[in-house]
Amino acid sequence: MNGPLRFGLVGCGRIGALADDRAAGWPPELRELWLPYAHASAIAATPRARLVAVCDASEAAAAAAAARFRVERTYTDHRRMLEHERLDAVAIATRTAERPGIVLDAIEADVRAIYCEKPLASTLEEADAIGEAARRRRVAFGYGTRRRHMDVYTRARELCREGAIGALKLVVVRFGAGGLMWNHPHSVDIASFFAGDPGIRSVQGTLELPEGAPTELVADRTLDCDPVLVSGALEFSNGVRAAILPVDGQDVELVGTTGILTVRQDGRELILRTLATDRTDIGWMLTEQPIEGRPAASGTRRGIERLIAEVEVPSSDDELRAALEGHEAIFGLAESHFAGGARVSLPLRRRRIRITGRVGDKLC
Ligand SMILES: NC(=O)c1ccc[n+]([C@@H]2O[C@H](COP(=O)([O-])OP(=O)(O)OC[C@H]3O[C@@H](n4cnc5c(N)ncnc54)[C@H](O)[C@@H]3O)[C@@H](O)[C@H]2O)c1
Repeated sequence: MNGPLRFGLVGCGRIGALADDRAAGWPPELRELWLPYAHASAIAATPRARLVAVCDASEAAAAAAAARFRVERTYTDHRRMLEHERLDAVAIATRTAERPGIVLDAIEADVRAIYCEKPLASTLEEADAIGEAARRRRVAFGYGTRRRHMDVYTRARELCREGAIGALKLVVVRFGAGGLMWNHPHSVDIASFFAGDPGIRSVQGTLELPEGAPTELVADRTLDCDPVLVSGALEFSNGVRAAILPVDGQDVELVGTTGILTVRQDGRELILRTLATDRTDIGWMLTEQPIEGRPAASGTRRGIERLIAEVEVPSSDDELRAALEGHEAIFGLAESHFAGGARVSLPLRRRRIRITGRVGDKLC
């Protein structure tokens, strides 16, 4: 590839352009782990990428992002941007309802890479269309579930693969009592990442729905809310399981046959606990050891670097596959709830159920 990849950005709101400012008040060690967080700042920080055009339905938002990231051309219609620019890659950070259409337009305009925010779409049918088009046109795909590219999580996965906790049995994700569409694409993705992205066989979920929400889920039904996930269980094809719990703290725990590895507080600490040699009457005692960190680099930036590497030397569509499977699991958790918490096998039969992710007047 000659020269940096030419990126266009669609959606110059919070995660598209402004997120780093919002992180100004974060503790320094979290800033170090997460910034650059927004698409635009991560692209700007990546030597092999260049942001050449930005697009937002709001002219003011596009102009502000262009001024800040020294981009010459702004658009209010992504189709015009795709028509007028020779883009290699498009980053898409609009809200969910419009995202699938923009992804498909970008693929049809012959871009070589898409960096797409989560959740993938509002239905499974839309996600299927993205998967089919990206594979047919061999477009490299990066997803907004950026933890899988953060050093602390990749280090934890390496340790796990090296046998630090024996055989991995269970991934426990504690990312708070968040919405299925807003928060849990992250929970499902990090669990799949640690399980080795082997595919998700089945899920079980319990949701909390707002008053007036439907009490049954029929084909084509819209859930015009973002149900809170009270608990979720995933079973991966390799037998690893995951539990998603509504507990704050941003911890992910890898439970193995000989120990437990915990990524605490979204990467501020990585702790390895191993079974002590003596088993007491009340069970195994664990010895605890902090793992030294590696120099941090943001997950958004690493995700964009991986995407560029994929364009240069195509190797797999793993990230697209994980995104599609994760999306399937999100809808499976909803189906399970409406089936009284029954275990639901994936893939699902019904592809047109829509979950808007609405919270108040805000859509996901
Ligand atoms: N991965 C993460 O950590 C993370 C964090 C925050 C948000 N998100 C996801 O990113 C998405 C965006 O969230 P946000 O908080 O940045 O939203 P936002 O409302 O701040 O930004 C969305 C922007 O898209 C623009 N827009 C809407 N329709 C458009 C269109 N057709 N063409 C061009 N621009 C259009 C809006 O004008 C707005 O500026 C959400 O789906 C959310 O789930 C992900």
